[in-house]
Amino acid sequence: MLTFQTPLDLVRVLRPETPIACVRPDRVGAAASWFQNNFPGDVLYAVKANPSEWALDAMYEAGMRWFDVASLNEIELIANRFDDAILAYLHPIKSRHAIERAYFEFGVRIFALDCEEELQKILEATNHAKDLTLVIRMAVSNDGSTMPLTGKFGCFGNEAVSLLQATRAHADELGVSFHVGSQCMDPHTYRVAMDTVSATILQAAVTVDIVDVGGGFPALYPGMNPPELQAYVDVIEQVFEEMPVLFNADLWCEPGRALVADSTSIVAKVEMVRDGKVYLNDGAYGNLFDAAHCKWPFPMEVHRPSGKISFHKKPFLIYGPTCDSLDVLDGTFDLPADIAEGDYVEFGMMGAYGTAMSTRFNGFGETTAYRVRDSISQTMFDTESAAERSYENNIIFFPRKEA
Ligand SMILES: Cc1ncc(COP(=O)(O)O)c(C=O)c1O
Repeated sequence: MLTFQTPLDLVRVLRPETPIACVRPDRVGAAASWFQNNFPGDVLYAVKANPSEWALDAMYEAGMRWFDVASLNEIELIANRFDDAILAYLHPIKSRHAIERAYFEFGVRIFALDCEEELQKILEATNHAKDLTLVIRMAVSNDGSTMPLTGKFGCFGNEAVSLLQATRAHADELGVSFHVGSQCMDPHTYRVAMDTVSATILQAAVTVDIVDVGGGFPALYPGMNPPELQAYVDVIEQVFEEMPVLFNADLWCEPGRALVADSTSIVAKVEMVRDGKVYLNDGAYGNLFDAAHCKWPFPMEVHRPSGKISFHKKPFLIYGPTCDSLDVLDGTFDLPADIAEGDYVEFGMMGAYGTAMSTRFNGFGETTAYRVRDSISQTMFDTESAAERSYENNIIFFPRKEA
């Protein structure tokens, strides 16, 4: 992969016509190492956050061997890339065909479920295998998270109790899992979730071999100042000790966002500036899905391949390239007043759910990745104190405003 010192160098040399992912594999390596060194259990990378080959390779080089996969394609991707990967198929609702191929063709033994129908499906599709690790996904409070993931998956109450009991009878190993919601800003949310799980285990009176605390660990988006990741790990470790599970039960986590968010920025070309509107070649149906839908701030910087750019700022709307009027970023953005066709806008913190979410709608969506050393994204991992983890002084950041 070609390497550039800065995104500005990149646009000066390449003048790219399609969106660019400026990637920093060392950031992924640092994050993966941190989790593996500090989390008191097994760390599974949630592949959905960023399945790019360079990111997977950086994970693997940092020692990551466990992968949370959500589909047959993710299973194939990881199994074909890494011989010794351990795959956990943690989507609670899967097709029979996918379960069968996962079990018989790819050696997957770990499956999630949140209802009796899925239990039957897994048992039938694996020919009533005796070596299954079955992980019950429970619904828990998402109160501390910036992006709640409630409603779709997870069982609770009596339903969870009877599912735990029914599943125990068929599982070689029984696990419980949950998701506190993405970008969780409060470690206490994990305690609340683990307490809910503990109460359910006690009611079900089953032995539990695995507690999987899911994803949700935060990254450092502008304007958000989550506690240090160590605070999350400390809470989880402490509560795990108190849980009514086997004394040698395993503890897992499945981070996605926290492992990759700060690794990538997206550089999009300005195709037109007209009446306070900037039209880019990337947008809500492309790599900027999160930027368009999350409604939280991202660091941005404008690069001009030749000549100087104005210090004076003006508010602009930002549109993506497709013909859909939903292809717009929320709010207005203070961009250089003289921004023009041929400039490039860089969006930082796009490593999680960025390129992974890009579609081919309207024939757009082609993205090339280059390695870039410089970064506008701040990281949770290699700074000494929270005070240093700031976007002040070192980047141009245009906070989002209401339109
Ligand atoms: C089952 C499961 N595990 C892990 C993750 C990763 O979550 P996050 O990116 O918030 O860490 C997700 C995200 O949707 C998920 O559904």
